[in-house]
Amino acid sequence: MSLTNRLLLVGSVVVILSGALLLFTYDVIKIDWISFMEIQPSYKPMENPLPVPAQSIPVEGAAYVPGMGAPANPIPADEVSLARGAQLYSINCAHCHGTGGQGDGPIAPFLAVKQPADLTGDLVQSKSDGALFLVISTGVTNTMPALNENLSVRERWDVVNYLRTLRP
Ligand code: HEC
Repeated sequence: MSLTNRLLLVGSVVVILSGALLLFTYDVIKIDWISFMEIQPSYKPMENPLPVPAQSIPVEGAAYVPGMGAPANPIPADEVSLARGAQLYSINCAHCHGTGGQGDGPIAPFLAVKQPADLTGDLVQSKSDGALFLVISTGVTNTMPALNENLSVRERWDVVNYLRTLRP
């Protein structure tokens, strides 16, 4: 065999071998190594959360018992609660309901189904604290998102206390 032929042979063996290796690099041939971190029973962001196990109670205690009506407000509307409520409202509600609560937040015009409620009006202000707490917790079907995952129980009561200050 001449030197060029030998070089050609070695070269093509190298090319074929590295080509075969590349097939695995870009998952052309996928091997599910069980050591991959992604293969585990936890849920990724935006995936459906696990259903709550039957008869379990959240670490904060039961916020309310379904079917038992609106719960009573356990958090006094003191300075601390109102300050926290104002801050949480500006983060979680103002973009829809507006800084003043009149339902005129910056994204309100883009809501297709229904405009955000006027939180300063009698319709909302005549509701009990517990009813407002439930609205924040469960949202309103198809129109307002449930915010129980954004706000802890205590935080929801702080927002309820703050809503009372929006009364004209
Ligand atoms: C994505 C926009 C959006 C966000 C965020 C939002 N809301 Fe709403 N909210 C709405 C809409 C839309 C309605 C009107 C629901 C209806 O009448 O069907 C509404 C209705 C309400 C009502 C009246 C419900 C009733 O039964 O009359 C209250 C009270 C309320 N929201 C409080 C809040 C509070 C407090 C927050 C923040 C913790 C908040 N909302 C966050 C869109 C929003």
